[in-house]
Amino acid sequence: MTRVHPVVAIYPGSFDPITKGHEDVARRSLRIADRLVVAVAHTVSQAKGGLFSVEERLEMVQEVFEDDDRIEAVKFEGLLVDLAQEIGAHFVVRGLRAVSDYEYEFEMAQMNRELWSGSETVFLTPNQQYSFLSASLVREVSRLGGDVSRFVSEPVLRRLQRRSAG
Ligand code: PNS
Repeated sequence: MTRVHPVVAIYPGSFDPITKGHEDVARRSLRIADRLVVAVAHTVSQAKGGLFSVEERLEMVQEVFEDDDRIEAVKFEGLLVDLAQEIGAHFVVRGLRAVSDYEYEFEMAQMNRELWSGSETVFLTPNQQYSFLSASLVREVSRLGGDVSRFVSEPVLRRLQRRSAG
């Protein structure tokens, strides 16, 4: 059914790189939203030790979701709540893998609501097979020559391999 007023969700993150866990959360969000905007943050926190540029991260997200025209990807600088309002997002999507994610996620959700009272955050749990998966672990395993083909989609794997070779 096509809704007159489509429900729009925004899924922000560093996506450095996008993993199958992120992908799973994004696709699940379309059970409650009609459209999803995956928002790739310009800045990756220093603590996370970034690998790919924002353009590369954006391209990978676009390639991964090429098959679904309900999902679009954008990059952004500045506050998430500004972008969320600009695109008319009804809610923010974030993945919750384990209790250890909760504190950080709770703080962000509350801060976003302080900044914009209309902000709602919906937490989705990924498939259990991805509950341990993180972009930082994928980067590390790949850098050390391990096989990450179970954890990332083909376009991401190709870039990681190129990066290791180069
Ligand atoms: O994948 P990550 O690194 O956990 O994502 C964190 C992200 C990008 C969602 C968060 O840092 C963010 O929203 N950054 C944009 C700047 C902003 O709005 N900061 C205040 C958030 S409470």
